[in-house]
Amino acid sequence: MQVTITVNGVEQTRDIEPRMLLVHFIRDELQMRGTHWGCDTSNCGACTLWIDDEPVKSCTQLAVMADGKSITTVEGLAKGGELDPIQKGFMECHGLQCGYCTPGMMMVGRALLDENPHPTEAEIREGISGNICRCTGYKNIVAAIQWAAENPATTDAEVTA
Ligand code: FES
Ligand code: FES
Repeated sequence: MQVTITVNGVEQTRDIEPRMLLVHFIRDELQMRGTHWGCDTSNCGACTLWIDDEPVKSCTQLAVMADGKSITTVEGLAKGGELDPIQKGFMECHGLQCGYCTPGMMMVGRALLDENPHPTEAEIREGISGNICRCTGYKNIVAAIQWAAENPATTDAEVTA
């Protein structure tokens, strides 16, 4: 069946099988490999993206459920050639080792800061509690999100394309 999904601001129309998961639509149909596919059972959070600005584990959704909706993936965080503060935070604080969990962590971290620009450490830990990192022990991930909170984005007017 045909679906049209707006991904990072670009309308994408494809003929797909009704059983296709959203994570496979993103990775295989659109060849966007920033969204990772890990456990496939809604546990690890590596596949997290936003549907209409809400973080969602894309291995739990059929692509057809996103028909007509707007999706943001980790590739859509940077604006005007400028990394989002959450991406800079992971760089600055070395918030990753293998990087497998990183896109999902960035998507939940950015969503958390959009809701709560100055979270406590406990609030950050709760915010990322649906995402698993097998490498870092979470300390630097928390630091990366704190860094982003302390170094918020420039406004659109300040961003030069
Ligand atoms: S791949 Fe979706 S939660 Fe692990
Ligand atoms: S950096 Fe390896 S799983 Fe998180």
